[in-house]
Amino acid sequence: MKKIFWMFWLAITVTIAGYYLYTMIYAENKESMLIGETTHGHYQIELACDTCHSTAFGGTEVLHNACVSCHQEELDAANDSHPRKKFNDPRNVDLLKTIDARYCTTCHQEHVNHVNVQMGVTLPTDYCYYCHQDIAEHRPSHEGLEYDSCASAGCHNFHDNRALYERFLVENSGGPWVKSHAHIPLANYAASDSSWRDPILSSEFIAHQEAHPNITNAVALSAHGEAGMSCGHCHQTEQGDWLDSPSIESCAQCHQNEVHSYQQGKHGMRLAQQLPGLETQNARLPMRSESAAQPHSCVSCHRAHEFDRQFARQDACLQCHSDTHSLNFRNSPHAQINSSTGEKNHEDMNVACATCHLPRLPVTKNGEQLWQVQHNQNDNLRPNEKMIRSVCMHCHSLEFSIDALADPELINNNFHGKPSQHIPSIDWALQREFQN
Ligand code: HEC
Ligand code: HEC
Ligand code: HEC
Ligand code: HEC
Ligand code: HEC
Ligand code: HEC
Ligand code: HEC
Ligand code: HEC
Ligand code: HEC
Ligand code: HEC
Repeated sequence: MKKIFWMFWLAITVTIAGYYLYTMIYAENKESMLIGETTHGHYQIELACDTCHSTAFGGTEVLHNACVSCHQEELDAANDSHPRKKFNDPRNVDLLKTIDARYCTTCHQEHVNHVNVQMGVTLPTDYCYYCHQDIAEHRPSHEGLEYDSCASAGCHNFHDNRALYERFLVENSGGPWVKSHAHIPLANYAASDSSWRDPILSSEFIAHQEAHPNITNAVALSAHGEAGMSCGHCHQTEQGDWLDSPSIESCAQCHQNEVHSYQQGKHGMRLAQQLPGLETQNARLPMRSESAAQPHSCVSCHRAHEFDRQFARQDACLQCHSDTHSLNFRNSPHAQINSSTGEKNHEDMNVACATCHLPRLPVTKNGEQLWQVQHNQNDNLRPNEKMIRSVCMHCHSLEFSIDALADPELINNNFHGKPSQHIPSIDWALQREFQN
């Protein structure tokens, strides 16, 4: 009798486990399988379970490899202050007893959003203590500081300290809060790398042109028209027939870099997983209810035929975004610069949403330094000190930038007014410089 019970129990357990594993990897609808709320960073792809759980029986190592496959590039670019190799060093083995920092999932768990602080972190905020108990001995300035203040805005980050390391602070100290000729570089990256196909002039394509004179006109006036493109460069199937609604793949023929970086950020992360594009109705952030239900893609900001950069930099965003920070932009001092200089004439002095969120970054092409638009709007978003070098310091001092980004009220009102507190990082770095 007892034996039958156990066989029965085993059969049921195996069936249930099998069902879950099957659903996790193969089934179409995985919603029922979610074991808890997913983090702010990942909920848009939460149903693509196998992006993280690439095998059903994978433990920590499998999950870790998944994290690394999507995030290593960005951590390398940030010159990660705590890379795995530091912890493989035998001298640091003891440190791993409490926090095994070799694995991403030690600090970033998933499906437990109720315990997450910002950026998917699942550790108490004073965790630096476990490895850096001796800091006050080497740094008199740090004596008596609480351990939950190490990673406050403007001090240290666990990964990305590009704007906060000591040398950088010393070298960039001083200067007026707003630079005398405050400007950003012009975007001058030639978008298209691919060799040209000849325009298609079959009667079918000509008929479409004639049927849509407004579109034909808009295309002719756009950068695409100027470069000699016609309808067929986008509206063409592989067989050479007319394609009604070109997708991101058609843009990718000529704009691979933009497509790549777009897919690494929140706007494009669903398309990158072959999921339907992001929709405003499925967002956690506040969105305008009247914003189109149309899934997110390149045309969300560029529209299909005009490709007006100025529209894309600001008005496009406000078609969807309606959190307080976004809505406050139009009344901010930054927006006033735009109206006083004339938006089109002073593209290098304007500050729009895209100035901060899709910044122009330096790239080298054939030995020449050019400026290209970063289409991953999460690349410099959090921790927000990432914006200091890529954006603010074109126009402001380091000190003012650190203080302003550490002030939640200034972020909320979209940078209207002076920072309400001062972060002493630079002062301390200078003090140490003079002592040595
Ligand atoms: C962004 C990455 C990610 C996605 C997407 C994801 N998970 Fe997870 N999942 C994790 C992490 C990380 C853990 C926790 C590991 C830990 O705490 O050590 C986890 C844990 C689990 C566990 C607990 C058992 C275990 O392996 O530790 C289950 C069950 C699970 N996930 C199911 C799912 C299902 C089903 C989906 C899709 C509906 C999904 N997950 C999507 C990252 C992800
Ligand atoms: C399929 C690719 C993919 C995988 C796998 C993946 N991520 Fe992400 N992750 C993203 C994208 C895309 C975002 C959203 C954009 C951003 O914040 O960079 C994101 C966001 C994040 C954020 C939040 C950043 C913020 O500002 O809130 C953290 C932290 C993070 N991921 C860590 C991890 C860890 C740890 C794992 C492994 C358990 C993992 N990711 C697995 C693609 C991935
Ligand atoms: C010891 C804890 C710890 C470990 C291990 C860890 N992180 Fe983090 N991570 C953090 C903290 C804390 C933050 C919050 C921002 C900061 O202080 O840098 C963060 C932020 C992030 C972010 C968002 C901000 C950014 O700088 O891009 C990503 C993405 C991220 N971690 C990915 C990873 C990946 C991938 C791994 C594994 C290779 C990993 N983390 C390992 C603690 C950790
Ligand atoms: C699991 C242990 C561990 C934790 C947790 C940890 N660190 Fe570290 N940290 C290290 C090790 C190891 C080094 C490398 C020391 C060396 O190279 O001599 C280091 C180096 C540093 C450095 C010097 C960075 C550089 O680029 O040279 C700073 C600053 C730092 N940590 C700050 C922090 C802060 C702030 C926190 C909490 C947000 C933190 N650490 C959490 C182990 C840890
Ligand atoms: C740079 C690529 C590109 C070029 C060049 C282009 N289109 Fe389009 N077109 C698109 C995209 C993308 C859509 C789909 C928009 C959507 O799905 O919302 C579209 C949609 C359309 C539509 C249907 C939706 C609407 O806006 O009415 C018509 C009609 C159209 N295009 C005609 C033309 C004609 C005629 C030409 C040539 C004069 C042309 N297009 C050139 C990318 C292009
Ligand atoms: C056949 C190649 C080709 C295709 C397909 C294509 N483009 Fe372009 N695109 C170009 C060229 C050429 C330029 C202008 C010169 C340059 O920057 O290289 C350009 C310029 C642009 C610009 C800059 C506009 C400006 O005013 O400076 C944007 C934005 C753009 N394309 C977006 C798109 C989008 C979105 C799609 C897909 C709907 C797309 N392109 C499809 C070749 C292409
Ligand atoms: C969130 C809005 C948004 C989306 C979505 C978007 N773009 Fe852009 N794009 C911009 C803005 C804003 C600029 C111009 C910024 C500037 O001049 O400072 C731009 C510039 C460009 C340029 C000119 C390149 C350069 O470096 O100067 C190309 C090409 C382009 N986008 C292609 C694309 C393609 C392809 C997609 C889809 C994968 C896409 N964009 C999606 C906002 C967007
Ligand atoms: C078609 C609607 C639409 C347009 C246009 C649009 N966005 Fe978004 N954006 C979204 C949605 C939806 C999200 C995801 C929000 C969520 O998941 O809660 C998002 C996410 C973001 C995020 C990341 C927020 C986070 O916490 O990770 C930033 C930053 C952002 N958008 C800025 C912009 C900027 C700047 C522009 C214009 C250049 C723009 N967006 C254009 C719909 C849009
Ligand atoms: C001067 C730079 C700057 C300008 C201009 C700017 N932002 Fe931001 N934005 C920020 C900073 C800094 C944050 C905060 C990042 C953080 O700490 O989480 C932010 C956050 C956001 C977020 C994420 C909010 C959240 O709660 O996750 C969205 C969405 C956003 N901005 C959209 C916009 C839009 C749309 C515009 C234009 C109408 C705009 N921003 C103008 C700097 C700027
Ligand atoms: C293209 C140059 C430019 C960039 C980039 C820029 N700013 Fe500004 N900012 C200005 C100018 C010019 C003013 C002064 C406007 C005026 O005269 O009222 C200003 C004003 C401000 C103010 C308001 C001061 C007050 O007295 O009301 C704050 C706060 C601010 N900026 C923060 C930032 C931060 C933080 C960043 C980076 C995320 C940034 N700015 C990026 C040019 C820029």
